[in-house]
Amino acid sequence: MKLFLTGASGLVGAAVATAAARRGHEVIGVSGRFTGPLEGLARRLTLDLADEAALTAAALESFPDAIINCAAMSEPAQCDAQPALSEKLNVTLPATLARLAHHLSARFIHISSEQVFDGAQTAPYRVDSPTNPITRYGRQKLASEHAVLTAAPEFSAIVRAPLLMGDSPGAQRSLHERLLADWASGRTVRLYADEFRQPCTGENLAETLVELAERPALRGVFHWAGRELFSRVQLGEAIRAHFKLTDAQAPIVVTHRTDNPAIAASRQACLALDLAPLLGTLKTQPQTLSQQLASLKVPPLVRAWYHSL
Ligand SMILES: NC(=O)c1ccc[n+]([C@@H]2O[C@H](COP(=O)([O-])OP(=O)(O)OC[C@H]3O[C@@H](n4cnc5c(N)ncnc54)[C@H](OP(=O)(O)O)[C@@H]3O)[C@@H](O)[C@H]2O)c1
Repeated sequence: MKLFLTGASGLVGAAVATAAARRGHEVIGVSGRFTGPLEGLARRLTLDLADEAALTAAALESFPDAIINCAAMSEPAQCDAQPALSEKLNVTLPATLARLAHHLSARFIHISSEQVFDGAQTAPYRVDSPTNPITRYGRQKLASEHAVLTAAPEFSAIVRAPLLMGDSPGAQRSLHERLLADWASGRTVRLYADEFRQPCTGENLAETLVELAERPALRGVFHWAGRELFSRVQLGEAIRAHFKLTDAQAPIVVTHRTDNPAIAASRQACLALDLAPLLGTLKTQPQTLSQQLASLKVPPLVRAWYHSL
């Protein structure tokens, strides 16, 4: 299958390129500002995805069997700082890609987020649970779901993803990469003991996305995540233990939502995801935290610090 992959230089997109190539697909990958090497691409295009005309020309010229959209402005704070650009990348771009998929009769895979939920319930959110985003990013992700399902309902699968672990091309994107960077530079790491997430790795999510691209009968909105729910403190401690760091080398300041209610209002307390119906339908299996940790590497940017300890 020929895949047109946007966000090929991101945490998830780079893993999609590798997974798709391993499964025998031809991947045409679009990157933006990242200039480092990327694996798994038969062809690499450098494009500004906010430029709709350039994107349309590139997608039509590629004539793919499937489009996988891993491009986004994926940082909620950055979306607040750049509302117009984030709207373009998080809502207009997936809408355009869905229209192109419809035009090309191509499969379309898009990534949404757990942040379409408010995090106020402790029971796992189901795919049909009421949404109620509390951040601009979450509202954009929800709007992207509606736009995609309107433009290409018969071709699209949308996956709401959780907090992500894994190794990213720039080594600065995922949970462990950020924590290690903070510890290496002496920044204070404050983690909530009462915020719960169900992380998975970008690699495991990528396998799911490629398998979905291969399974056109699976349409609509789905959830994917890891097998287990952890507090942010537990995740930080597990990452610290995995890299054999001591409390002194990698300090964690434990914080609680009640410490600053104003900040807590824009953060979800608990984002547990029910993985039905994908769980049991896909060959890809969700991972335990131990499986996720086993795949993590020391990011190149902190190697000097890490090996000096
Ligand atoms: N990371 C998470 O914890 C998380 C959690 C849930 C859902 N998600 C969602 O999962 C998807 C993938 O996220 P991610 O973590 O892999 O994101 P990421 O690492 O931030 O990567 C974003 C990708 O988008 C590309 N991009 C952004 N603006 C562009 C532009 N104007 N032109 C061309 N390319 C542009 C980037 O390219 P360059 O870097 O080359 O510019 C990069 O390849 C997103 O939809 C995100 O919202 C992420």
